[in-house]
Amino acid sequence: MTPPIVDPITSLAGAFATLQSGLAAAARIRETENLELEDTHARPADASAHLSVPDAPVLALRAVTAGYADAEAPALRDVTFAIPRQGHIALVGPSGAGKTTVFSLLLRFIDPAAGRLELNGVPYDRLSIDDVRSHIAYVEQETPVIPSTVRDNVLFRAPDATDDEAWEALTSVRLDQKIRSLNGGLNADVAETSLSGGERQRLAVARALVRRPNVLLLDEATAQLDATTEAAIQHVIATASREGAVVTIAHRLSTVLDADQIIVLENGGVRDAGTHRELLTRDPLYQEFIAALRIHTDTDLAPTEA
Ligand SMILES: Nc1ncnc2c1ncn2[C@@H]1O[C@H](COP(=O)(O)OP(=O)(O)O)[C@@H](O)[C@H]1O
Ligand SMILES: [Mg+2]
Repeated sequence: MTPPIVDPITSLAGAFATLQSGLAAAARIRETENLELEDTHARPADASAHLSVPDAPVLALRAVTAGYADAEAPALRDVTFAIPRQGHIALVGPSGAGKTTVFSLLLRFIDPAAGRLELNGVPYDRLSIDDVRSHIAYVEQETPVIPSTVRDNVLFRAPDATDDEAWEALTSVRLDQKIRSLNGGLNADVAETSLSGGERQRLAVARALVRRPNVLLLDEATAQLDATTEAAIQHVIATASREGAVVTIAHRLSTVLDADQIIVLENGGVRDAGTHRELLTRDPLYQEFIAALRIHTDTDLAPTEA
């Protein structure tokens, strides 16, 4: 028997951990609110939500220069590229090159100082923030898990979606068995459930898959993930890029190799763009990048490689 004093202490510790993660989540939300104070519905009076230019790429940056208020130099300078309606585009480049800034612009967390972004050929300033974000699902690198049930976590973006839709997303990321094994299933409390880093990552990807819009932005985790998680994410990228657009900030060799088009960013500019084969023959920085990823891959996966 557990001495009676242990239980309150254990649950107090548990409650404190929950409180802490809840506070961290609240702080994040407040931070975002303070940063933006944005009206996500506002759109020019004469603009329509349903504009779309035939055959335009789903997203495009046109001569975009952008930066941060407290930084001297812009984070991106004169960047132009398009994201086709289907396929997988991988962004690669050294730390600080501007990859995350591209995502922040696409999601309209920040606005460009010059140039413009387009959704289906329509400039962002003709659209509301919601018009833009309703087309995009985003999986962050460090994904916050909401201290609530599995269901709330998976259906966060689409609260009216059904349990079947939640299970479908969980199955796509190979998390269905794990969740079924939990006491409560979809009702299990994530904060009280021990999920590994990889499982949390898959939960976040499942969230992006429910009622998935036609663009998936994925900032790949830099930390090594377990083999099941890697395979599940690879499968999601392959499936989603047949049906719509996937843009990854790629940190793993297999993700880069799977991309239809790779954009190499360096010092806030597009250094080169092409297929893996093209870049490997002509771009020394890309060759270095791939060599480094190979060393990583060989070190970590050598025993499982043929
Ligand atoms: N919130 C920020 N405030 C000020 N500078 C930032 C901020 N975020 C990024 N930067 C700067 O912008 C540049 C590009 O950063 P980032 O887009 O995060 O690069 P990457 O994702 O390729 O590592 C870097 O020089 C970085 O220091
Ligand atoms: Mg980044």
